[in-house]
Amino acid sequence: MKIITITNQKGGVGKTTTAINLASALARTGKRVLLADFDPQGSATTFLGIPLAPGAYVLLAAYIPNLATLLAGDPGRYILDRIVQSRENFDILPGNMQTVVAQNFMLQGERDISLLRRAITDQFRQYDFVILDTAPSVGGILELAMWAADKVIVPASCETGSIDGLMQTAATLRALTAKGWPGQLTGILPTFFDERTTERRKTLASYNRAFPEAFLSPIHESAALRELPANHVTIFEKAEAEGNKKTAARAAQEFENLARAILRR
Ligand SMILES: Nc1ncnc2c1ncn2[C@@H]1O[C@H](COP(=O)(O)OP(=O)(O)OP(=O)(O)O)[C@@H](O)[C@H]1O
Ligand SMILES: [Mg+2]
Repeated sequence: MKIITITNQKGGVGKTTTAINLASALARTGKRVLLADFDPQGSATTFLGIPLAPGAYVLLAAYIPNLATLLAGDPGRYILDRIVQSRENFDILPGNMQTVVAQNFMLQGERDISLLRRAITDQFRQYDFVILDTAPSVGGILELAMWAADKVIVPASCETGSIDGLMQTAATLRALTAKGWPGQLTGILPTFFDERTTERRKTLASYNRAFPEAFLSPIHESAALRELPANHVTIFEKAEAEGNKKTAARAAQEFENLARAILRR
């Protein structure tokens, strides 16, 4: 089982879009995938049309001493009960605002950075990939979600002003590496790319220069991707519904390529 964390402390850069479509792309190759929604907004949960629920909370609570005592019964059982099947081979552990409650309890006690990694490796062995979608924030749960990762993917928008968030996130990962984090920054994933715009081409080139080893092929800005959350579909479902003719086909291909790159690295 491999844990992939999708993160960038900047908001609106395509984290949730990446989490959903990468999870779907991997599931379509036959891998068993769990998407765990660690954003208290629950955007990944809502994206798939699944009701918000305290799945991420329950997982954390079972491993936070002050909260675990409040949960009656067998943690393995009630954590599994929170998982919802979304698609074939593609399950989700939903999230909601209660994730913040877990974070607050966690910050009161002794800080244990490996708590989430332990929880996931104990509870979700049956999956090939566990993908964590995270909120645009710093510290707290986010650091635990980074520490949990075997691979981190940082979606970074090609719009100007996005490089700062990327650099800060990369610095956080370097600090974790210095503390003994065994995972790797698998990729900077440029998003909202558009070769017709000089600004976007320049930003893309600067990402490539800054992270030559970790650079992944970009995801273009597309109306097809923008329309997914409102319709609760993945890019593959949208492309198929359109007979693979329209713009969705290119975006689907880009996410399929991303999954391939992840399986290779
Ligand atoms: N490549 C793209 N082209 C066009 N629209 C996109 C693209 N990627 C994401 N979007 C849209 O941009 C918005 C932000 O994307 P998304 O929710 O994936 O970002 P996020 O980083 O998860 O945001 P947050 O920080 O709020 O969690 C959404 O409306 C999404 O549909
Ligand atoms: Mg998001």
